[in-house]
Amino acid sequence: MSSATFSDVIGERASAHRLVDEQGAIERWENEGGIALSPTQTTTIHNTLTFQFIGIFIIMNETQDYVSPATAIMTRNARSIQAYGHLIPMPLALLESARQQSVDNLNQLLADTMTLRDLYKKHHWQVSGPMFYQLHLLFDKHYATQAELVDTIAERIMMLGGISIAMAQDVVDNTTIPQPPKDRECPESQLTRLLQAHEITLQAARSMARQAIEVGDDGTNDMLVSEVIRGNELQVWFVSQHLVGAHAHIE
Ligand SMILES: [Fe+2]
Repeated sequence: MSSATFSDVIGERASAHRLVDEQGAIERWENEGGIALSPTQTTTIHNTLTFQFIGIFIIMNETQDYVSPATAIMTRNARSIQAYGHLIPMPLALLESARQQSVDNLNQLLADTMTLRDLYKKHHWQVSGPMFYQLHLLFDKHYATQAELVDTIAERIMMLGGISIAMAQDVVDNTTIPQPPKDRECPESQLTRLLQAHEITLQAARSMARQAIEVGDDGTNDMLVSEVIRGNELQVWFVSQHLVGAHAHIE
């Protein structure tokens, strides 16, 4: 091996070794503008060494202890600026109790709307039969509309001073829509399941709209009526018409 190449490797070893230390990883990341070794780069070193050096195993053992600078910084800096369930002051001329009621209701509605959104994508992927193409497109169109509603509801929660739920586990913990099977269902079952989810959502949204009016939260009431309720009603129409003749109670 040439001395130059050896020096290069020693330098890389020193870099990798520094990253083993959490504080060193943070300082390197911050001082060098994020040029610290990434896992990909470390892998590249391994590959290079495999061809050039007998001492590869020693270096590999060191780099297995690699600490991600991002993870190290996250560990050091992780802190909340607002606890879930608490409101921050907002100059909206609304009582805090009114904002709290709307935030709680809207988070429930958000969980159900995210579930309905994902139900449409599941059915978009898994649909079958003579109506495949039409339903495939319809389900994705409705998915996109539900995704817009999710954003509208979540941002309404934030503008009221609350915190919107966001992650899948939060949805699972809060939704009132029954969990569908992982199985691939026939189109009739898919459509019926969607109508059930819409009806659950609509029932909740109508109740929440009335509650919003009672506490003077006109903005939430307007969003619920104009976007959530009317949007879901429109989708129910489109979905239900595919079942005319299939279920006596829907005809
Ligand atoms: Fe698609």
